[in-house]
Amino acid sequence: MNRVVVVDDDEPNLKLYAAVVKRVLGEDAVAFENPLQALERLDDLRPALIVVDYQMPELDGLTFIRELRAKPAHAFTPVIMLTASPEPALCERALEAGATLFLQKPLALADLTAQLRHYAGAPASRVTYGEVIMPTDERDTILRLFRALQAHCKDLGTHAGRVRDLAVAIANEMQLPSEEIEAMHIATLVFDIGMLSVPDKVREMPSTLPTRWRSVVNAHVDAGAAILTGGRRPLLRAAETIARYHHERYDGTGYPDGLAGSMIPLAARIVAVADTYVALISERPHRVEFTPANAVAQIVGLSGSAFDPNVVAAFERLKDKPNNFRQTA
Ligand SMILES: [Fe+2]
Repeated sequence: MNRVVVVDDDEPNLKLYAAVVKRVLGEDAVAFENPLQALERLDDLRPALIVVDYQMPELDGLTFIRELRAKPAHAFTPVIMLTASPEPALCERALEAGATLFLQKPLALADLTAQLRHYAGAPASRVTYGEVIMPTDERDTILRLFRALQAHCKDLGTHAGRVRDLAVAIANEMQLPSEEIEAMHIATLVFDIGMLSVPDKVREMPSTLPTRWRSVVNAHVDAGAAILTGGRRPLLRAAETIARYHHERYDGTGYPDGLAGSMIPLAARIVAVADTYVALISERPHRVEFTPANAVAQIVGLSGSAFDPNVVAAFERLKDKPNNFRQTA
């Protein structure tokens, strides 16, 4: 039985993925270099899992997944998109297209091993990579929460994706350790997950809210931390930390705990800048959006009061690197 279909125009990659399937599941994958041929054969093959590359000349992975989802027989077939592309917001676009999971190389191979077991059900006796289960599950958990956020409100999902892109760009500019940047890449997607606790009519009110409603909105940081609490590994703990502290202010006048300066976790200080910038340049029902230049000036004006000066300095340097700002502007 061939339960896994792999689609990649790069033959060495295709052989590698097929070898992983053979090793983990003990069976041959059905491999396609051409995604169009794969789409034609899927009704016959009825796979338990599809692994697809992103960049392919005939049809890219996003279009492949959309066409797959348009087929009733494959509306729920698990699909993993796997890519080394640094293209911004690709993860969100893949999930929007209908991908079950998005794996970014170079870490993807270990994750792929775990996911093959999960979706195609290898016998436990063959499993020898148990240590990768927990990180993969945590990433999966966060991505599923992100999808819940997107399902509840598309704008919240889009905002979170843009904030994540900018926060990661700032973290890179500050030369944070690669494992912290990797964690932020996933964890920041759910920084505002607590907004699920705020009624839509309140969330959509202007920022000059009456006090009684302001406290309802502010409570989203506690709600977010409560949703994410209890993680035993760094990724979920990072998500909880960012969700809880991204509205603290550098001068100690923020919420929920009034932390100041370096007492505020660095990832939360970075997300605070990214969240504010993306909010300022976004169209909102009750105000005209800022131009990117005016929004940068606003952020710089709050350096040392609302925001960490080192984070603001890194953020400012990004404007000389157009690719980083283009993601959010
Ligand atoms: Fe927030």
